[in-house]
Order: sequence, then structure tokens, then C-alpha cells
Amino acid sequence: MMLGFTVTQSIGAAVRLGLPDLVSEGPRSASELASAAYADPDAVRRLLRTLASLGIFADEDGIIRHTTMSELLCTSATGSLAPQSLVLSGVHYRTWDAALESLQTGEAAFPKVYGAPFFDWLAGHPEEASAFNAAMAAGAAGRGARLLDRDWSSASSVVDVGGGTGAMLIRLLTQRPGLIGTVFDLPQVRPEALAAIEAAGLADRCSFAGGDFFKEVPAGADVYMMSSILHDWDDEAAGTVLGALRRAMTPRSRLVLLEHVVEPGNKPDQAKLLDLHMLMVLGGKERSEIEWRHLLAHADLDVITIGAGLIEAQPS
Ligand SMILES: C[S@@+](CC[C@H](N)C(=O)[O-])C[C@H]1O[C@@H](n2cnc3c(N)ncnc32)[C@H](O)[C@@H]1O
Repeated sequence: MMLGFTVTQSIGAAVRLGLPDLVSEGPRSASELASAAYADPDAVRRLLRTLASLGIFADEDGIIRHTTMSELLCTSATGSLAPQSLVLSGVHYRTWDAALESLQTGEAAFPKVYGAPFFDWLAGHPEEASAFNAAMAAGAAGRGARLLDRDWSSASSVVDVGGGTGAMLIRLLTQRPGLIGTVFDLPQVRPEALAAIEAAGLADRCSFAGGDFFKEVPAGADVYMMSSILHDWDDEAAGTVLGALRRAMTPRSRLVLLEHVVEPGNKPDQAKLLDLHMLMVLGGKERSEIEWRHLLAHADLDVITIGAGLIEAQPS
């Protein structure tokens, strides 16, 4: 477990060298791959041996082939994990340099390492912002699956608050032709979001609104969805976002949150790892059912359902 960082970095290095895409062009030896990647043959052989021992790539008599996991690291794979791996092994990884301070103060480590809060820093680093947006968009399909199962029959309008480049809303609107939607996010996300909406052929049913969800969100929608937003923030900041949402909601509006619900007990759970990562990057947290109920009640919202990554609430 203490060597866990070697896994994060080995995966990130393989993606940076372009090895998954090269293997997709055809299985070949580690030294051929190294030469195509302009890297050291012995070092690449050892990298691939390590990854193959974890099920990422397979080494069959010296020929490197894909496995289900290594395929997910190809840039063109559906739901590619390549962008996440770059963010986690890059900008996010270095955040943990200030982990001790973060644990001593309860505040985010990111500003101590990078000199500014995460989203402010991204605003000044467009390349890293694009990588982060791509990472979130790639994961949106998985996170959004539960959303599609929800009963949408009584809704006609939906706002995806902090919707990034719109991946999740685009998927929802594609499957529910009766819905119109708005992606709400920081103004700098607009160009990438509009390009994605246009590319999906949804320009007539989907718009983008730029703004700050701590202040105001578009009013009067039937459904407000927020995916992986409130876990970015501590209770005070999350309460402010919920306050802005509550002011925008009508008495009949619904709030749908796609978030982890941390189970009690000592079972291994990715949410517990992410909880610490959220603390480091943003001062945020993953919440238990009791914590969700408390946070929502404080914002004058009643929980309708909670569990399996989806929480639905309505105005009290
Ligand atoms: C963790 S990402 C989640 C993206 C998307 N909902 C998803 O699940 O893939 C957080 C999003 O919140 C947006 N965001 C951060 N601060 C914001 C603010 N003050 N107002 C509006 N959006 C904000 C970011 O630009 C980013 O797209």
C-alpha cells in the first residue's frame, strides 16, 4: 500500500508515453514500443512488466497486448480513463506534498502547493483546465447512468449545475427527447461546452449559462442536477451553493445529486479515498447519509431518496 504511488505514476507515465495508443496500432515487443515512444527500451520493458502484473496490458511471450484495463487508457476509448490518469498523476498528485499541513489545519492542500485555490488556478492554466474538463467528461457517462433510470415523465426542463462541458446533460437529453436543458458552469468553460453541445446536435435544446453557483443559478427549472459538485466543498460552502439553488427552485422543482454516500463501518470503499483527496484538492468531503440529510435539511430541502450514488430532494 505504501508503494501505491508507483501505480498512479506508472499508469500516468504509460499514458504520457502514448503506450496504450501504440499497442492499439498492433501488438509488439516492449523494445519496439519504446522506440516508437522515443523512450529507453529496458525502462519501458520494466514499466510494462509492472503494469502487466496489475492486469494493465498483457505480456505474452514478449509481445505486449491490450487487456480490458489497458484499453481504457487509449485516448479514443469510450469513457477513456487517460485524462483522469493525467490529472491524478500530475496536478492532483503534487497536491499531496502539503498533506500534513492539510491534516493539521483541515484546509485544502492545493493552495499551499500551487498558490491559489484549485478552480482559480485552473482559470489561469487553460491547458490543465482542458485536461481536467476532459477527465470529468470521460467519467460522466459512468456517473450519469443512474440518472437515466430516474422517472423523467413529469419534467420538461433541467439545469446541470456545475455541468462542466456538458457530457452528462448531453447524454440525458439525447435519451430523453422531451427535455430541454442548460449547462451552468464558470464562464471560462463556455467555449468547450458549446462545442460539445453543437457536436451532439443539441444546440436547439441545450444552452450554456456562465456564472458562479455561490451567487445565483438559473431560476425555475423542473430539475436541478449536480454531479460531483458538493463533495468539492466543506459544509459552509456547500450550504451556500444549496442556498443559491433553493432560491432558484420553484416549490415543484426537484434536486438530483450524483454523489457518493459513505457507508458506516470499515469496509474498503473508493469514497473513503476520494474523501481525503477532496480534502487535499478543495477542502471538500464525501458525506455519509446522516451528513447529507443534515446538509440538505439546513438548506430547507427534504430528502426523497438517498443511496447508490443518487440523492433526490425537494423544497420543504
Ligand atoms: C468536479 S467538476 C464536476 C463536473 C460535472 N458535474 C461532472 O460530474 O462531470 C466541478 C465543476 O464545477 C465547476 N465550478 C467550480 N466552481 C464553480 C462556480 N463557482 N460556479 C459554477 N461552476 C463552478 C467547475 O468548472 C467544474 O466543471
